Amino acid sequence: MARLVKMNIKESSWKIPLFDLSFDNKEKDAVNRVLDRAWLTMGPENIAFEKAFSEYTGSSYCLSVNSCTAALHMAVLALGFGPGDEVIVPSLTFVATANAVRYTGATPVFADVQSASCPVIDSRSIEKAITKNTRGVIIVHYAGYPCNMDAIIEVTRKYNLKLIEDCAHAPGAKWRGRSAGTFGDFGCFSFFSNKNLSMGEGGAVLTSTEDNYEKCKFLRSHGMTTLTLDRHKGHAFTYDVVAAGYNYRLDEMRAAIGLVQLEKLPEMNKKRKQVTQTYRSLLSAVPVEIPFTRYDQAESVDHIMPVFLPSGIDREKVMTSMKAQGIQTSIHYPCIHKFTDFLQYKHDPLPVTEDLSRRVLTLPLFPGLTTDQIKAVVNALAGGLDDQAAS
Ligand SMILES: Cc1ncc(COP(=O)(O)O)c(C=O)c1O
Repeated sequence: MARLVKMNIKESSWKIPLFDLSFDNKEKDAVNRVLDRAWLTMGPENIAFEKAFSEYTGSSYCLSVNSCTAALHMAVLALGFGPGDEVIVPSLTFVATANAVRYTGATPVFADVQSASCPVIDSRSIEKAITKNTRGVIIVHYAGYPCNMDAIIEVTRKYNLKLIEDCAHAPGAKWRGRSAGTFGDFGCFSFFSNKNLSMGEGGAVLTSTEDNYEKCKFLRSHGMTTLTLDRHKGHAFTYDVVAAGYNYRLDEMRAAIGLVQLEKLPEMNKKRKQVTQTYRSLLSAVPVEIPFTRYDQAESVDHIMPVFLPSGIDREKVMTSMKAQGIQTSIHYPCIHKFTDFLQYKHDPLPVTEDLSRRVLTLPLFPGLTTDQIKAVVNALAGGLDDQAAS
């Protein structure tokens, strides 16, 4: 019999990890419900999750998929991007945002973000990057804060560009009362372990048109016209293949976990906001820049807690000193355009992205983080900065 590697995330050496799950017996019961039913993929849990998530976001259509990367890939394919096309993306994001463009043979073109106080893609930088080959834009609602959708939509309408929203950080976020993911042609979500709504791996794609929905449905499951479930129910005996599709299906266990997590999401997002507010008041005595402190048009969902260290600070030393106190930190993000495999792409200078990417430090943030833990993080950060000021 194969031996399982012993690993319990609760026994990790971090006193304060970067994130923690908000799971309890409800998630266990949901998985058991699926196992008892013994129908493991693309069944009632997926159907229920899609319905619940489209209701939650106010979207006409929702498809569950097995990652945000899959959702982004389906969106760029459904919009027909390909070789010779340019798609504008931020560089201060996870590499999946830009990779989705590359999968189709299209070229990612990087645009800058606004500023340390608002590190989301800058509509003026998008406009500057537009050429005769530009077909679309992918925006990212960084850290759970919606981009300035008024400005983004003005540019995409003016130049007749397609719009995809990468909402990996933003389930539940709103801009002027409307859900992130419902402004563009597609909204793509991640339900990876460390996200606000966690399934382990998982994602969803939102769209407002039947045509886009149908295209994605085929792309999700090999371009086939019927599902295993249809044949199991006796609704079909065979199938046609009408597109070069993929296997981007979500299994029933994860969809069932997703339903529980979706029910908890408003409360978990509320707790994230409280944690963020506590951080902000305690950090006011620490010489770091805190983004999004004035962002009234948006309802954020506080996915991560990035701060920007003063220029000249050795970030790795700060991270090492915090690690010595059992506090995990991270970097959101190393900018994409500097990665070896992305040096081939041309773009305008990205001074704000490069500056912020050098200075960003992500502090632990999850719904169950206590005030004492936040104090410990802030003290450790202040100590790490003081050490460098003294030396
Ligand atoms: C902004 C952003 N986009 C896309 C992804 C990819 O998500 P997934 O891991 O679900 O494919 C992530 C995941 O971390 C992300 O943070």
